Amino acid sequence: MLLAPRRIIRRAGAAPGTHGAAPRKLQRETTMGLLDGKVAIVTGAGRGIGREEALLLAAEGAKVIVNDVGGALTNTAADEHPAEDVVALIKERGGEAALNGDDISTWKGGNNVVTQAIETFGSLDILVNNAGILRDKMSFNMEESDWDDVIRVHLKGHFAPAHHAAVYWRNRTKAGEEVTGRIINTSSEAGLYGNAGQANYGAAKAGIAALTWILARELGRYGITANAIAPRARTRMTENLFGDMAKKDDGQFDAWDPKNVANLVAFLAAPESADINGQIFVVFGGNIYAMSAFQPVGQLTRDAAWTPEELIAAKGELFKGIDSGVPKFGF
Ligand SMILES: NC(=O)c1ccc[n+]([C@@H]2O[C@H](COP(=O)([O-])OP(=O)(O)OC[C@H]3O[C@@H](n4cnc5c(N)ncnc54)[C@H](O)[C@@H]3O)[C@@H](O)[C@H]2O)c1
Repeated sequence: MLLAPRRIIRRAGAAPGTHGAAPRKLQRETTMGLLDGKVAIVTGAGRGIGREEALLLAAEGAKVIVNDVGGALTNTAADEHPAEDVVALIKERGGEAALNGDDISTWKGGNNVVTQAIETFGSLDILVNNAGILRDKMSFNMEESDWDDVIRVHLKGHFAPAHHAAVYWRNRTKAGEEVTGRIINTSSEAGLYGNAGQANYGAAKAGIAALTWILARELGRYGITANAIAPRARTRMTENLFGDMAKKDDGQFDAWDPKNVANLVAFLAAPESADINGQIFVVFGGNIYAMSAFQPVGQLTRDAAWTPEELIAAKGELFKGIDSGVPKFGF
């Protein structure tokens, strides 16, 4: 694991880092987490990866708005509120959390969740955009609603809370306050490489990668970073996809546990990650990969345009040493 939940016990009165003995009357134990004093939102935190992210951010000291609309995976019927359990568990463990049941893929829902964080806990520092759904079909079988629902929940569901958080953070900066905002988006290798059967989902997740770069470029000057993860974990979303491969082996390190993913998110949320901006990570088990943006692999350059006929003649040069077919999935 990159970062296990960490609680440093420090005696009040001892200087940080000294672990020195404090005068007797000040000997009161306090705990310190990576995110003490921070306020976080995790969308889609009722289950799966979002649940583990909310639990870990809270264990690291953040006050967490646990958002989940409570929707079923492949249709719009609402389950019971899974986020209620997460809020209860955080409180049981001594943390602070509040429930939000808004649909974050609406402008109003995005605004509500940000406003709730500010009104309940006094500020907002960390926005983890995680909520998602699947409507997998081949492009020739896909219906308009499959396309619209997935694009809306993922792409607008990332942008709506990010927009309202950005407005809040920019206003604070303009008022002369110091802001250390964090946006952590959730992309997918299905989008970074383009998975067959997921035209809607893959396009949304590729859009989230581009959105991450754009937010990073726009907001860096206000003290805000925007990064994205592309996780692999065993959740209800992937239990059919990964099947036996993702089964837990008793006694072995559980590489498919969504807790592994949450560690990277807590790291990116921490003050120590202020220098990491516009980055995309593939994360799986004990493997974390920092991914590059698109780079050219072949080129034709000259100070004149290429006619279509010239391109036919030069295509061997453009794809010299590389395959001109569909790029490989994964790495
Ligand atoms: N599990 C993986 O291996 C994997 C791989 C790549 C990407 N992802 C991404 O990780 C994120 C979490 O996925 P998961 O596997 O934990 O799935 P999950 O289905 O277990 O959890 C997703 C949660 O989002 C909630 N949600 C859906 N629409 C919402 C909305 N409009 N507003 C608020 N909440 C909403 C659901 O109710 C659900 O609790 C998703 O964005 C997913 O695309 C997961």
